[in-house]
Order: sequence, then structure tokens, then C-alpha cells
Amino acid sequence: MEATTCNGSVDGSRVFYLVGIPSLPESLFLPVFFIFLLFYLLILVGNALILLAVVAEPSLHKPMYFFLTNLSALDILFTTTTVPKMLSLFLLGDRFLSFSACLLQMYLFQSFTCSEAFILVVMAYDRYVAICRPLHYPVLMTPHTNTALAASAWLTALLLPIPAAVKISQMAYNNINYIYHCFCDHLALVQASCSDTAPQTLMGFCIAMVVSFLPLLLVLLSYAHILASVLRIHL
Ligand SMILES: *[C@@H]1O[C@H](CO)[C@@H](O)[C@H](O)[C@H]1NC(C)=O
Repeated sequence: MEATTCNGSVDGSRVFYLVGIPSLPESLFLPVFFIFLLFYLLILVGNALILLAVVAEPSLHKPMYFFLTNLSALDILFTTTTVPKMLSLFLLGDRFLSFSACLLQMYLFQSFTCSEAFILVVMAYDRYVAICRPLHYPVLMTPHTNTALAASAWLTALLLPIPAAVKISQMAYNNINYIYHCFCDHLALVQASCSDTAPQTLMGFCIAMVVSFLPLLLVLLSYAHILASVLRIHL
């Protein structure tokens, strides 16, 4: 967009400028700040209460509730990687991020959202086994298996966004780069670069497919099996 020359690769001097919500008038920054703050506090308190309830109540010490605490922990984590910076943007006009902070934010956000999608798949599998294979449930879903499933979801999600982060770190950037978003999202970072953005846009699309479309298909598959079982009961 900008006709500036690309003086990338001078590491350390590259900064990122968060545009926030493009064309939002300054007069609305304070109301937007309070709305985001309210939702952020609700997310923190709500998820903390879920975590506390499951830990404190022995009757909730079941796989489903442990997975639920995983989701709560992830909700807290990925909002905390993005929202505090957004709040300081809208309250103080604090818009600059260093290249490494921006890259870290992108990586953590991707990683936590991937974990969330994978944990949802694990939960769908848990329900599939409980409803369609009830007699096998105690054998298939032991505490050990649950921990292994949750751990592999987290581990895969930690590893999966690494190639994208490495690629981004190799792209050329100007000294000041505009991010047309409220946080350093993969696509916004790609578009801010003055390298050829097409390969990275394609890569981002493929990652999005793997981490959202595939889990969605698996969850739907489990629902289909569950629905079929339930219908068989009534016939
Ligand atoms: C995530 O789920 C696993 C498997 O049930 C459990 O062992 C672990 O404590 C949970 N972790 C968190 C942070 O909730």
C-alpha cells in the first residue's frame, strides 16, 4: 500500500504500529476500552470460577470436566496474549510493538487457539466413546489416556505454528509497519510485509484449514455417530 522502500533486515529497528479498528473515531476509544475491559474481566472471572469449581468439587473429577478446565485455561491464556495490549491501545494510545513482541503475540495466539480446537476434538472423542462404546469407556478413557490426549493436543498446538513464525521472521519489513488489526494476527503481519505476500497468505490459509476445518469435521463426525446411536435407542 505505502510506496515506501523496503529497508527490512535491519533487525531491532523494526517496529509495528497497531492501527486498531480502522476508521474508528478517537471519541469512541474510551467507550470501546470499557467494553473490552468489561468482557475481559468477565472472561477472566468466569473461567477462573470454572477452574476453581472443578478443582474444589470431587464429584467433578471426571475427564469431561478436566477437559473443560483445559478450555478455561486456554480462554484465559489467549485473551491475555491480546487484550491487555488492546486495552492500552484504546486507553493510552499505546500502539507500538517491537518485532519480537509482535511475533511472540502471533505465535502464542495461534498456539492457544490451535490447542482449543484440538481439545474440542478430544472432548468430542470422549463423548463418542461414552455414548457409542459405553462398555469400552473405562478401558479407553483411563486417566492416563486423558492426560496423554490433552498433552498431545497442547504439544501439537505448540509445534504447529512454529513454521509460520519462522517464515514471518524471514520476511522483509520497513522500519515502521502498519498492522490493520487490534493485535498481531498472522494475516495482518503478512500484509504488513514488503516481501511477496502470496506464499505466506497461502500458508496461512492451509494452517487455518488444518486447525479449524479438520477439527470441525472430526467434531461433526462424532456428533453424527452420537445422533445415530440416540436414534437407534428410540426405534
Ligand atoms: C487438562 O486435561 C487433562 C486431562 O484430563 C488434565 O490432566 C489436566 O489437569 C488439565 N489441565 C488443565 C490446565 O486444566
